[in-house]
Amino acid sequence: MATMLWLLAAVFMLGAAVGLAEGSKHGHNYYDFFVKETSYSRLCENKTLLTVNGQFPGPTITARRGERVIVNVHNQGDRNITIHWHGVDQPRNPWYDGPEFITQCPIQPGTNFTYEILLSEEEGTIWWHAHSGLDRAGVHGAFIVHPKKGTDYPFIESYKKLHKEIPIILGEWWTSDLNLQLEEYLKTGGEINNSNAHTINGQPGDLYPCSRNDTFNVGVKRGKTYLLRIINAGLDGDMFFGVAGHLLTVVGTDGRYLKPFTVQTIMISPGQTMDALLEAKRSPSSGRYYMASKTYLSNTRLAYQNGTATAILEYKDMPLATRRATPVFPNLPNNTDDAVATGYTAMLRSLASKEHPVNVPTKVNEHMLITLAINTLPCTTGNGTTAAAPAWRRASTTPASRTLTSTSSTHTTTPSKASTSRTSPTSHPSSSTSPTLTDPGRIGPQSAAPR
Ligand SMILES: *[C@@H]1O[C@H](CO)[C@@H](O)[C@H](O)[C@H]1NC(C)=O
Ligand SMILES: *[C@@H]1O[C@H](CO)[C@@H](O)[C@H](O)[C@H]1NC(C)=O
Ligand SMILES: *[C@@H]1O[C@H](CO)[C@@H](O)[C@H](O)[C@H]1NC(C)=O
Ligand SMILES: *[C@@H]1O[C@H](CO)[C@@H](O)[C@H](O)[C@H]1NC(C)=O
Ligand SMILES: *[C@@H]1O[C@H](CO)[C@@H](O)[C@H](O)[C@H]1NC(C)=O
Ligand SMILES: *[C@@H]1O[C@H](CO)[C@@H](O)[C@H](O)[C@H]1NC(C)=O
Ligand SMILES: *[C@@H]1O[C@H](CO)[C@@H](O)[C@H](O)[C@H]1NC(C)=O
Ligand SMILES: *[C@@H]1O[C@H](CO)[C@@H](O)[C@H](O)[C@H]1NC(C)=O
Repeated sequence: MATMLWLLAAVFMLGAAVGLAEGSKHGHNYYDFFVKETSYSRLCENKTLLTVNGQFPGPTITARRGERVIVNVHNQGDRNITIHWHGVDQPRNPWYDGPEFITQCPIQPGTNFTYEILLSEEEGTIWWHAHSGLDRAGVHGAFIVHPKKGTDYPFIESYKKLHKEIPIILGEWWTSDLNLQLEEYLKTGGEINNSNAHTINGQPGDLYPCSRNDTFNVGVKRGKTYLLRIINAGLDGDMFFGVAGHLLTVVGTDGRYLKPFTVQTIMISPGQTMDALLEAKRSPSSGRYYMASKTYLSNTRLAYQNGTATAILEYKDMPLATRRATPVFPNLPNNTDDAVATGYTAMLRSLASKEHPVNVPTKVNEHMLITLAINTLPCTTGNGTTAAAPAWRRASTTPASRTLTSTSSTHTTTPSKASTSRTSPTSHPSSSTSPTLTDPGRIGPQSAAPR
């Protein structure tokens, strides 16, 4: 998991950090999410899964940089739910962040709750998912943030032919009810069983049983460039992903731009997103190509889902004879290929251009003591519940003390942390527990941290 930590570090360095149905959007940036059980048939078995608007993956949210998005979540399921907007900084607006019992009381069955999502510096691909129990296995979707009106993608000069964007959501399928597993393993302290399949946009694809008829399929036009918005929505598992016969030019991750680089295979951790350009420039004679995803893991003693999810990329102008041909398969690395995984992550560098600067302060003027505390408010049951949440507080003093409390040290990401946490704890000024709130938005556990 050293790789994962490295990635988180990379995201901090970055300044913080179509094909699917659009959400039911009434009016500008307003969405209704109906959370409900939906029947599915996968891997030769039927089950119901909690979804949003009956879709797996759920609806795609689209907005522009800096906009406000409103999502009214109606819980029509049989259990509590909350939704987290993964990768959104929500400056000064943590009450709509989503984790149940952390920033809000869960939305109870038969009730609704309206989230206000304040976009700030995010631009690119982020996503949303349930943040209650294990329901995010089915309750998740893409959140696409386009450049502001009048501005464009930084890579557009070299890719004037950008034709369409295609969300590619890597997920998992369990044939049993995942929440029953959660109950079982909360009792025993064990681990959740491996999934029964990996999925791409909700489908296991041709290599899994009873899946061939529903494999996700996307048509492309020769000469066009496509922006794949790849999201790893899996519960646990780094994934390799590649497209046969095509290279991927990676231009962004987690709602921030990167210095572009071109690879055959990407490696993406759970919760991460990757924006990659794909140029459709193969000859029409072999017009069908598999996209595929499989587990990457460095610890070979762990059990894992060893299958490969597939989707199909096909050229719209291919000859009829090609239509029935078996797609070409990509050359993906072995499941344990550390060299490919670490080589990939080593290429992630923030764009840091004039238009997309990464202003990390490099000079520390003043060392600060930051103390965090929490309030708790009980959640009420029944209808008419309003959001109640703990409030974190900051009290700071400028003088001699150079310590961080244990609660803040895991979250504080400013460069001053490195210099303060190394010095030994000396004194705790009495003001550290003062409830005085001074500029609560400036420094806090939520700031700029990818979650
Ligand atoms: C799944 O449901 C379909 C339609 O309701 C039914 O035809 C099929 O027999 C079911 N399959 C299994 C394995 O129960
Ligand atoms: C559901 O949420 C309510 C408050 O919103 C809480 O009181 C109750 O304990 C929750 N139920 C479960 C099973 O977590
Ligand atoms: C519930 O939804 C209705 C509209 O369907 C809306 O008027 C109301 O404000 C919502 N309530 C909450 C708590 O979000
Ligand atoms: C987990 O997997 C084990 C072994 O295959 C199986 O016996 C058990 O029933 C599974 N648990 C659940 C909750 O599906
Ligand atoms: C796939 O489609 C074919 C043709 O429509 C049908 O005969 C077959 O039963 C389907 N297979 C599954 C697993 O649904
Ligand atoms: C995957 O693992 C199962 C055992 O869990 C094994 O039976 C199967 O052969 C493996 N498949 C591959 C492709 O390695
Ligand atoms: C891993 O890949 C190499 C070729 O690069 C191959 O020789 C080897 O058999 C593969 N190992 C496994 C376990 O698939
Ligand atoms: C909330 O009220 C609605 C109708 O107003 C009802 O259908 C639902 O069962 C109630 N939910 C709870 C948890 O009391």
